[in-house]
Amino acid sequence: QRVQVAIIGAGPSGLLLGQLLHKAGIEALILERQTGDYVLGRIRAGILEQVTIDLVDEAGVGARMHREGLVHDGFDMLFDGQRHRVDLAGLTGGQHVMVYGQTELTRDLMEARAGAGLPTVYEARDVAVHDFDTTHPRVTYTKDGVAHEIHCDFIAGCDGFHGVCRASVPRSAITEYEKVYPFGWLGLLSDTPPVHHELIYIATPRGFSLCSQRSTTRSRYYLQVPLTDKIEEWSDEAFWQELRLRLDEEGRDRLVTGPSIEKSIAPLRSFVTEPLRFGRMFLAGDAGHIVPPTGAKGLNLAATDVKYLSSALIEHYAERSDAGIDHYSQRCLRRIWRAERFSWWFTQLMHRFPDEGPIEAKLKSAELDYLMNSANGLKTIAENYVGLPLDFGA
Ligand code: FAD
Ligand code: DHB
Repeated sequence: QRVQVAIIGAGPSGLLLGQLLHKAGIEALILERQTGDYVLGRIRAGILEQVTIDLVDEAGVGARMHREGLVHDGFDMLFDGQRHRVDLAGLTGGQHVMVYGQTELTRDLMEARAGAGLPTVYEARDVAVHDFDTTHPRVTYTKDGVAHEIHCDFIAGCDGFHGVCRASVPRSAITEYEKVYPFGWLGLLSDTPPVHHELIYIATPRGFSLCSQRSTTRSRYYLQVPLTDKIEEWSDEAFWQELRLRLDEEGRDRLVTGPSIEKSIAPLRSFVTEPLRFGRMFLAGDAGHIVPPTGAKGLNLAATDVKYLSSALIEHYAERSDAGIDHYSQRCLRRIWRAERFSWWFTQLMHRFPDEGPIEAKLKSAELDYLMNSANGLKTIAENYVGLPLDFGA
């Protein structure tokens, strides 16, 4: 079998890339290790930046997002018992973010792909990438016990942090930068109205907490927990009790609790791979980089990688120019490091580290107090949170 682009992974990166290529008349096959239902069951990101919204529109799958997504013009920061609002729109000349779950976006992309009759192989086992350092890359896999081979022009590694593409690159050709944080996020999803109409980022002596949402009737809450905690040890009641202790009085009064529909612990990591292109194979999204979730950059960064990659491939096929391909790594990495910096900074500011003493707690309070009372401090948070423009620094 032959295809122009073989995409590994049907997460948001792979599906969005497939859709953008299809719009440009480039044929792609997606290979996904899991079932479609499994992919849809992974509760992850919830906040879309404007660049991501624009890209979803460009891919032609934005209708439901605009109908059901919630536009947020700001969020609250809660520390030392006081709330402060970060007025995103006021601080950035009218920009905002949108609450729309990764699962919803993935579903819209899957449906568009199926509707257009585009090929996705779910439950593809033993996916392997070959000869990407030549002009004739190949991908092999097995499906229902039958071996398959795909010949292609390019391989797009959209297969996440644990994928096969990055792992197939010779160690001498790749540099990986990594930091693992000494705590995790315990997340709970429930069909209860959110405690507040906007998000609340909370720093307390008991640790960080985040009150997020997926709709006006569905809440997503997170608690910073030690990495040694096991999900079985956290009953719903224990979760709600701990959240109450990290909220302020208004929050405790308004909090509506209910049974969880999903509960999981995620580790926090900063990770970047350099470069992101290896001959005719590209890494995009979590395959190439991970940010800690504080600030909601993960999915949005994946979307900009895909934007750069789709334009590079379109340039190659339509204009016979490889300029975009040659610049892919560099263009992505510049934006990635900026988002890595913000996510790392926001994470260290908002969390309690196991080795920190009273002075670090005081210094973080002072930093938050400064930021929330300085027009410049507020502005720097706001412009990073809504996402720096694509041509930033250009
Ligand atoms: P993925 O979504 O990981 O998709 C990769 C796909 O490739 C998967 O479907 C996988 O099954 C498939 N795959 C892997 N290996 C193979 C193989 N060998 N062969 C074939 N297919 C393969 N971001 C936020 O902004 N906010 C959050 O709250 C947030 N929470 C998160 C919680 C968790 C637990 C995780 C892991 C991530 C979270 N993120 C969050 C990050 C965000 O979800 C990711 O940045 C986003 O999913 C990246 O999309 P992707 O398509 O690049 O990777
Ligand atoms: C969500 C996650 C984040 O990391 C964040 O900063 C905001 C929202 C969420 O899952 O809803």
